[in-house]
Amino acid sequence: MSLRVAILISGSGSNMVALAQSMQGDHPARPCLVLSNDPAATGLSKARAMGIPAAAVDHRPFGRDRAAFEDALMRPLLEAQPDIVALAGFMRVLTPEFVARFEGRMLNIHPSLLPKYKGLNTHARAIAAGDSEAGCTVHEVTAALDDGPILGQARVPVLPDDTPDTLAARVLPMEHRLYPAVLRRVAMGARGILTLR
Ligand code: GAR
Repeated sequence: MSLRVAILISGSGSNMVALAQSMQGDHPARPCLVLSNDPAATGLSKARAMGIPAAAVDHRPFGRDRAAFEDALMRPLLEAQPDIVALAGFMRVLTPEFVARFEGRMLNIHPSLLPKYKGLNTHARAIAAGDSEAGCTVHEVTAALDDGPILGQARVPVLPDDTPDTLAARVLPMEHRLYPAVLRRVAMGARGILTLR
């Protein structure tokens, strides 16, 4: 039987699409749910067009009550019975309690070469630092933000006249290669760090 993968998004969901498209044929997993904290996320309609159940739990009515939001988010997630939860551009910080429910089976993609540039504005920070390389990282999610064990990284050059947007446009296609490759390895029970160039 295939492993079930729930994918959490906040926006356009291009990484979600790459993950979902990879889960075909002899792949050991299949997408079971795409879930967003934003009902307007364009990735939701992309998921539905691919035949994947999609749902949203708007975080805004919950204000600062993160626990109440996560209770609501947990409901459709648990109903989908995922073996693996993949954060793919999911822009809400999750509490340690939420993360603990999926310990060792929650993944995230982050647009930097972790441990550099946790958090936001990663490409601007790489450029400002004068880095010659940037990239993306897939890691296991732990209680600390952008901090869990690294499962894969892909590198791209930073060019002299890069802006955050041109660098992001170079990194994103690498994200679309890296995340499916790491997901497949994780679903197959492989260990170690995958490096793409
Ligand atoms: C991606 O670049 C992803 O790495 C980043 O958001 C973008 C989502 O794009 N994630 C983070 O910054 C997480 N902290 P997508 O919705 O098109 O996949």
